[in-house]
Amino acid sequence: MARVALVTGGTRGIGAAISTALKQAGYRVAANYGGNDEAANKFKAETGIAVFKWDVSSFDACADGVKKVEAELGPVEVLVNNAGITRDSMFHKMKAEQWSAVINTNLSSLFNMCRPVIEGMRDRNFGRIINISSINGQKGQMGQTNYSAAKAGEIGFTKALAQENARKGVTVNAICPGYIATEMVQAVPKDVLEKNVLPQIPVGRLGEPEEVARCVVFLASDDAGFITGSTLTVNGGQYLA
Ligand code: CAA
Repeated sequence: MARVALVTGGTRGIGAAISTALKQAGYRVAANYGGNDEAANKFKAETGIAVFKWDVSSFDACADGVKKVEAELGPVEVLVNNAGITRDSMFHKMKAEQWSAVINTNLSSLFNMCRPVIEGMRDRNFGRIINISSINGQKGQMGQTNYSAAKAGEIGFTKALAQENARKGVTVNAICPGYIATEMVQAVPKDVLEKNVLPQIPVGRLGEPEEVARCVVFLASDDAGFITGSTLTVNGGQYLA
């Protein structure tokens, strides 16, 4: 029986590429999304992938959401924590809501999503958790104290959870994409992108969502069973961690 994979933020951007690549690799995929019904319905119609709406910053919503996915598809064996937002601002102008929205959605979501699936993974002696962090959690980024803190937190979380579950067949890894051609990066002011970001990427271009998705498919596979607690950098050489 095909394994079940759940991808948060799985209907747009990098998440949509991950959901699609996992489906192509033979998984039964559930794609969570937070708010954009129109994009989610379009994604479902185009890919045939089941979509489920809930807010990953809410512990109760995640518990209910995982229950629904498991009732429809079966136990979650692969969890990809991809959902994330930006609320960029220089720190001296940052509002408390910009801080907490990013910390809750990008970091607390890892607790909220892993907690309902980890016991089942341990019981079944198999699981794959893949956390989509960011280059900006590794190097820091001006305008992103909130996002950099959350993304660095994801790396620490990954390393700790990996150690706890290594003997149970559950691997936990992080991927740190650099600047990938998605709506999130398109929201960076054009002059900043052209003047400050692109010239720093040795490969000379933005990454493609599929380039991240292929890494997820590998880390989810049986072939990657000896890889846990790792941080895979996918950034065109922009930052060598
Ligand atoms: N790298 C280098 N310099 C940057 C920069 C960046 N990413 N972002 C801003 N700056 C510079 C600006 O060029 C500007 O310099 P000058 O004064 O010399 O022109 C200075 O910082 C101040 O910038 P602004 O005038 O734009 O100030 P602001 O208060 O209006 O806005 C900002 C500040 C919100 C940080 C805005 O510049 C911005 O959104 N920058 C982009 C930040 C960024 O890179 N976010 C990444 C989003 S993509 C993502 O997060 C995905 C991922 O994981 C990689």
